[in-house]
Amino acid sequence: MTVRRTMHLAAHFPGVNNTTVWTDPRSGSQIDFSSFEHLARTAERGLFDFFFLAEGLRLREHKGRIHDLDVVGRPESLTVLNALAAVTERLGLAATVNATFNEPFELARRFATLDHLSGGRAAWNVVTSSDAFTGENFRRGGFLDRADRYTRAAEAVAAARAVWDSWTPGGEPGPFAHRGDHFDIAGEFGLPRSPQGRPVLIQAGDSDEGREFAASAADVIFTRHGTLEAGRAFYADVKRRLAAYGRRPEELKIMPGVTVVLGDTPAEARERAAEIRRRQISPATALLALEQVWGADLSGYDPDGPLPGFDPVPGAQLTQGRAGRGDALATAEKWRALAQEKGLSIRQTVIEASARQSFIGTPEEVAAELTDFVAREAADGFILVPQVTPGGLDDFVDRVVPLLQERGVFRTAYEGGTLRSHLGLAPTAPTD
Ligand SMILES: Cc1cc2nc3c(=O)[nH]c(=O)nc-3n(C[C@H](O)[C@H](O)[C@H](O)COP(=O)(O)O)c2cc1C
Repeated sequence: MTVRRTMHLAAHFPGVNNTTVWTDPRSGSQIDFSSFEHLARTAERGLFDFFFLAEGLRLREHKGRIHDLDVVGRPESLTVLNALAAVTERLGLAATVNATFNEPFELARRFATLDHLSGGRAAWNVVTSSDAFTGENFRRGGFLDRADRYTRAAEAVAAARAVWDSWTPGGEPGPFAHRGDHFDIAGEFGLPRSPQGRPVLIQAGDSDEGREFAASAADVIFTRHGTLEAGRAFYADVKRRLAAYGRRPEELKIMPGVTVVLGDTPAEARERAAEIRRRQISPATALLALEQVWGADLSGYDPDGPLPGFDPVPGAQLTQGRAGRGDALATAEKWRALAQEKGLSIRQTVIEASARQSFIGTPEEVAAELTDFVAREAADGFILVPQVTPGGLDDFVDRVVPLLQERGVFRTAYEGGTLRSHLGLAPTAPTD
């Protein structure tokens, strides 16, 4: 028998990627404030825990050119969230901000400001992406070794916490100091302790160091492990790491990024899902995905024809500004096996191998499956990534949220005012 556990929900404003079907006629701007406002208001109507913004500091390139299969460009997250704080009341507001290229004092100040302006709704997704390509935007260039990313991130968070905690509980400014390998700072902070004390901290890296960092410092993990099996393995792994830091499993919420496709019947949902996959992976996107794995110019290949007969080029990196190729040979072998087994073309293989569709079905089926994931400890909740901006979660909020409420696994009203309280996390004390 499974135990009933309540879940947390968040809305991901789509970044520049092909999860979003930008060719959909309902698709709006990724820059206009009205798009952010629409999705945030929908999330608040659905009583979501938080609204989430990703960050991309440099436009991606492929074969030396701007990656023009995506929409490109997005505004700075904290500015957007401060504006959203004025048009929402309870919804948490989470910004992804890099710890490699920013100073902790400045980060502490900006997040404390958001926490004040929003009445305790701020969250910081601490990312580390320190590739030299992104680093070229910044004074220090690609100075940071991959291995040092998390030591700097951990120090940036520790230093920011010293700043946030520097005011006395009685409301007097006090000195802060942090001395370490990456930062040596001391002074006084110009802002009183904010409603949450510090923002909710989110972590999104997947390496061993990333998981350890999350176990030591994060309140929420945003993960890609969105299938039941992978989710359960990830969940058990990360929760197990908490004890070493004197933390309990419920102090860290695990939230995979997932997509949902709804239909009035199971067949209609499956049809829609297939149509979305075809739109997400256009013939040009399929070739690009293939080139990313093979590390070679394959523009002469027919997307409706067979996969290349040769192996990926070792060490080649045609794409800049996104995660590396991983084990290209292993991916190529998996794709070839898939193509052979099902008789698939290049495009069909890419669709089959890379489409991110987690929950497909009627609202009842999706509500049941989400509930099951949480009951079976594959997740504590979900970060929903819509396929259309900005209206892509309207149906979920109208049709699935009420069913989750009926099942008793999702709130029917916000109870507290802060994001920490939505997440069921204890208030912070300066010594936490
Ligand atoms: C689900 C997920 C979402 C992420 N979102 C962002 C993002 O918006 N911006 C960014 O710069 N990096 C993002 N990252 C990258 C991570 O911060 C990290 O730099 C990357 O995963 C490499 O760290 P790792 O080796 O620990 O996985 C994301 C990673 C994951 C798993």
